[in-house]
Amino acid sequence: MNDFFHWLKRWRQNYSLGYFANQHGILQRFLREQGNWEPHLSISRQAILSEVDRLKPKTVAIFGSGWLLDVPLKELIEQGIRVKLFDIAHPTKLVNKYKGVESIEFIDFDLTFGAVHEVKSFLQKPSSFKFELLIDNIKNTSSSNAFNYDLVVSINTLSQLHAPFIDAFENRKSLSKYSLVELIEAFQTLHIKSLPKGKSLLITELYEEILDLKSKLQSESPRVYINLTGFEKVNEWNWQFDTQSTYIDDFSVRKRVGAYRV
Ligand SMILES: C[S@@+](CC[C@H](N)C(=O)[O-])C[C@H]1O[C@@H](n2cnc3c(N)ncnc32)[C@H](O)[C@@H]1O
Repeated sequence: MNDFFHWLKRWRQNYSLGYFANQHGILQRFLREQGNWEPHLSISRQAILSEVDRLKPKTVAIFGSGWLLDVPLKELIEQGIRVKLFDIAHPTKLVNKYKGVESIEFIDFDLTFGAVHEVKSFLQKPSSFKFELLIDNIKNTSSSNAFNYDLVVSINTLSQLHAPFIDAFENRKSLSKYSLVELIEAFQTLHIKSLPKGKSLLITELYEEILDLKSKLQSESPRVYINLTGFEKVNEWNWQFDTQSTYIDDFSVRKRVGAYRV
């Protein structure tokens, strides 16, 4: 298959899994929040720059680069660093903007190593879908040693990898809560295994907090289901994610975010 048709096929698959819609949603929320995200974005960029100061990488890979809102791209380029941007669905606008910039490379890559595409077989024939087989396949995927870069940054992607499955399963209410958690754990473990040890920075939301109109905490749900205590936490902060009650009527949403050396 020539490159164009290969690209078109992949684009269609990713479109049907909702990646472009999600990305559009992220940008719309960022614009709507009019600066409320800036402290979170700025702390994220600073955490990356601190690791760059420490490890002096020649090449940095960014996993889940998306719109690059939380990536200090300008500073990395100014330091002569080569930047490899990994995402399953790069925004076309950005790809066009940086076309011809030699130090930046956009890499179309599925960080679930193909597992997320199994969602289609589930949707096509839920009755014959083998959930345990999916879990086994994810657990047996060899992801370590896949990325040999001086510094790898996973930026707010750990909690997103299972998203197409959650949408599909929740709409059909066909899996127990326990199984959903097992699936999330499998995806998150796979992702952590893929980060080269001693030269990775993981930035991830940890909890989602729902607050009422008086800013009183009403509920909290985890966004990470694996144990991160073995990794050095370098920072933890709040992200005012939705102050306009567009996510949940009459409530605002705050995320607790952590940065870890892996
Ligand atoms: C919450 S965003 C991270 C924020 C992003 N850095 C930005 O500024 O827009 C998560 C990113 O992970 C990407 N992503 C989700 N699942 C992925 C997968 N399986 N493989 C690669 N990238 C994935 C999404 O396309 C999205 O760009």
